[in-house]
Amino acid sequence: MRLAFISDIHGNLPALDAVLADISLREVDATYHLGDLVGYGPWPNEVIDRIRARGIAGIAGNYDTTVALGHDTCGCQHDDPVQKALSVESYRWTTAKVTPGNKRFLASLPFRLDLRPFGGHAAGPAVIIVHGAATLNTVYWREDRTESFCRKMIARLGANAGDVVLFGHTHKPWSRVVDGRTLVNTGSVGRPRDGDPRGSYALVDLGADGADIRFPRVAYDLDRASAAIVAAGLPPALGAILRTGGLRTSD
Ligand SMILES: [Fe+2]
Repeated sequence: MRLAFISDIHGNLPALDAVLADISLREVDATYHLGDLVGYGPWPNEVIDRIRARGIAGIAGNYDTTVALGHDTCGCQHDDPVQKALSVESYRWTTAKVTPGNKRFLASLPFRLDLRPFGGHAAGPAVIIVHGAATLNTVYWREDRTESFCRKMIARLGANAGDVVLFGHTHKPWSRVVDGRTLVNTGSVGRPRDGDPRGSYALVDLGADGADIRFPRVAYDLDRASAAIVAAGLPPALGAILRTGGLRTSD
């Protein structure tokens, strides 16, 4: 059983299409998204349309919910005042751009999904997906979190030994096993922050021996994304950030 998990697309249509094309070559049984479909990128509605057209089930990210429900901010963290100003401008633009119908769709996304890839009538691992953390999407489940933090999240999620828990939100891919639970941060399709500008997703192979995790990286047309950011009236710095793999920002 092979599953693909995509997260934090952030309105970046060429990155999404490149990742979906890569997934299509890997004999994947199913693909799920982990939220933050919109924000920062110039194609929020097009990304939502693509996800819906492909029938990709998934959950709400912090950006999706705040745009859908009209919050004052996206609930993102900022390294410095420049990044905060960029984020505020992006949030205002995205809130104005996403159509009422798509806001209703974003508002309808669940907080978490529980999968039983081998069927609910048979033994086998559960796969749990959330956007940020067990109870809140404003919490960043980073690679340097302590074992104690991970255990707390595992308990709140109700994950059992052998289960796989996937999340995104930090835009940096990593994987780790804690008390027999495989923890996976997918990284970001459309706004990586680990210094590699290529889109990231998680490929999970589930079998009798457990879970094998990979993080394919997929190049896409950065020139097209940067030009579209400018043409849309978004800050050009958002394109520069994509080229550096997010080293100059946080969200
Ligand atoms: Fe995000």
